[in-house]
Amino acid sequence: MARPGRVAGKQALITGAAGGLGEAMAWMLAREGARVAVTDLNAGGAEALAAAINAELPAAAFAYAHDVTDEAAWVSVVERAVADMDGLSILVNNAGIGCDFVWSEQDTLENWRRVQAVNVESVMFGCKHAMPHLRASGAGSIVNISSVAGLAAAPGMGAYNATKAAVWMYTKTVALEAAKGDWNVRCNSVHPVFIKTPILDPFIAMAGGDEAKAHERLSRGIPLKRIGEPNDVAYCVLYLASDESKFVTGAEFKIDGGMLAQ
Ligand SMILES: NC(=O)c1ccc[n+]([C@@H]2O[C@H](COP(=O)([O-])OP(=O)(O)OC[C@H]3O[C@@H](n4cnc5c(N)ncnc54)[C@H](O)[C@@H]3O)[C@@H](O)[C@H]2O)c1
Repeated sequence: MARPGRVAGKQALITGAAGGLGEAMAWMLAREGARVAVTDLNAGGAEALAAAINAELPAAAFAYAHDVTDEAAWVSVVERAVADMDGLSILVNNAGIGCDFVWSEQDTLENWRRVQAVNVESVMFGCKHAMPHLRASGAGSIVNISSVAGLAAAPGMGAYNATKAAVWMYTKTVALEAAKGDWNVRCNSVHPVFIKTPILDPFIAMAGGDEAKAHERLSRGIPLKRIGEPNDVAYCVLYLASDESKFVTGAEFKIDGGMLAQ
């Protein structure tokens, strides 16, 4: 019998879920009634998370080693997740990396391609290989994790800006295709500003290892004067994953403390 909650009985696959935002999303979706497939390059981290979730919510979580840049790995992970969870109704394309901080004249194809592969190509693979199962679920939802950096640029962030803008627009293409096909699959993007996860480690290093100083610096352009918590993003993903958002598709959600309102 399905556990109660806002996503009761649903089956979610979350990439890059060994830590950071993906971990928070996995806990939230599982506590709200979904079964969750947590995937990551860091297989040990994904397994530890699934074990912790299962200790609280028996048989709610499954873990898979997964490099999201590898299309063959997508085929196998989606197949295994569908078999283990008895279907797939939610895909969260969350795995992502930052880029080297370099201005365009110094940028390299290696930096550019590395970030494109993890942040953009993975989203195309995920939408492609999950779609048949999301359609079969009768009410599917794709949530693509972009960034405020997909909507506003910053010097030295060219490769990352370009990937997150691509995810923003590709989300709309998939949403319109699904709507045109009457598949009952929705696709939306989420755009966080700085959130406390390991992805901010380079900023802490730049502040000489002083975390509070780094967070204070990162908060300066944010009207709410602080950086975000992983659950600030996870709550938005929960809404988009649930049927509460059944009339919402092709939309972007800024989780940015008011930053892009300026
Ligand atoms: N935290 C922020 O400030 C912030 C802001 C805006 C957007 N984002 C986006 O949110 C998403 C999650 O970021 P986070 O903050 O949790 O970062 P994080 O570094 O804490 O977690 C990212 C996870 O992705 C995994 N990963 C990296 N490359 C992978 C690959 N090739 N295949 C599979 N997994 C891989 C990592 O092992 C890690 O567990 C990313 O797409 C990121 O760009 C984060």
